[in-house]
Amino acid sequence: MATVETTQPLMPGEPSAAEAGDPGVRRRDFINIAAVSFAGVGAVTAIAPLLMQAAPSADVRALSSIEVDISKIMPGQGIKTSWRKQPVFIKQLTPAEIQAANAVQLSELRDPQSLADRTKPGKAQWLITLGVCTHLGCVPLGIGEGETKGDFGGYFCPCHGSHYDTAARIRKGPAPLNLHVPDYEFASDTVVRIG
Ligand code: FES
Repeated sequence: MATVETTQPLMPGEPSAAEAGDPGVRRRDFINIAAVSFAGVGAVTAIAPLLMQAAPSADVRALSSIEVDISKIMPGQGIKTSWRKQPVFIKQLTPAEIQAANAVQLSELRDPQSLADRTKPGKAQWLITLGVCTHLGCVPLGIGEGETKGDFGGYFCPCHGSHYDTAARIRKGPAPLNLHVPDYEFASDTVVRIG
């Protein structure tokens, strides 16, 4: 336990200990500074466990997933949901939208991926992506009824004019990558588990 010495007030005209050449002054100053520093470290140490309790562990975060009922989404329709605080688009493509996506040569694409690469086997009609533009993170239009879908019939980000096609692949504008496909699986024919 550190002992903190107190400094006696000087009488008028009396030289300070430093002025008198007392080497103990520097030692006392050090002890005072050290006592304050220990108090600071102690406060941080006391708060740290509280912060660690408040924040979910990486394991818990990694396990967080949502289940979404897709039974009411008709061909050509989509919904916007939220997963880990990010918008997620779930869309059922029409046969024409699937055909349009499959007609594109991969060599034409900035971020070459086929529709099959971006959907589950036998479920090419279900396109599930994050609703986050890969340019600077705006939420593109096109999932809601009546929203503009851009020049390629998928999604359009009005922030800086990025156009995504029916497979949500970047086709025009500044975004560098396709809309990201999150980890997901079909829990059943009508329920999707994301995460
Ligand atoms: S954030 Fe979408 S185009 Fe810039």
